[in-house]
Amino acid sequence: MKKALILYDSVYGNTKKVAMSLSRGLEAGGLYVDSSSIEDFDIVELKSYDIIGIGGPTHYHGASKRMKSFLNKIKHLKMEGKYGFAFETKGEFRLAGSAAKRIARYLNKMKLKIVHPIIAGIVLDKEGPLKNATLDLMEQVGLKISDNVNKSNT
Ligand SMILES: Cc1cc2nc3c(=O)[nH]c(=O)nc-3n(C[C@H](O)[C@H](O)[C@H](O)COP(=O)(O)O)c2cc1C
Repeated sequence: MKKALILYDSVYGNTKKVAMSLSRGLEAGGLYVDSSSIEDFDIVELKSYDIIGIGGPTHYHGASKRMKSFLNKIKHLKMEGKYGFAFETKGEFRLAGSAAKRIARYLNKMKLKIVHPIIAGIVLDKEGPLKNATLDLMEQVGLKISDNVNKSNT
């Protein structure tokens, strides 16, 4: 069974909710899934996963300070042959920016094969809530990612 890891940063819990829904979708697609906040995760474990999803809140048009420092810690790891995807939460306004763009850039540096375009969950206010139906949608996205991984294996 392929192993997926979902890593998230979250101040108010919205990105964590997105992470959990993505995890449920991946599980529904037949993958084994672990999830963790970036603060609690020991990076030596990273190499034991086949699919790595990393997500965080958009802060000042980009990734949070915590996420930037986490990405710097893992960027030297070479992960050829493994899959990755980036997700984020942010507001719905022009010039909102994107945390996931930076995350995706680092996944590329680590040579992960990007298995889904950037995934964005929209918050209606800084502390949430997420836009209606976001979590159902995220579960579907997780399922689609597991399909993509299974397909690219055959
Ligand atoms: C310090 C700070 C800066 C923020 N800057 C932005 C921003 O530039 N663009 C945006 O769309 N949302 C911004 N937000 C809103 C966050 O994206 C929102 O709080 C986050 O998506 C909620 O996720 P969380 O509950 O996982 O923390 C900011 C929030 C904080 C706390």
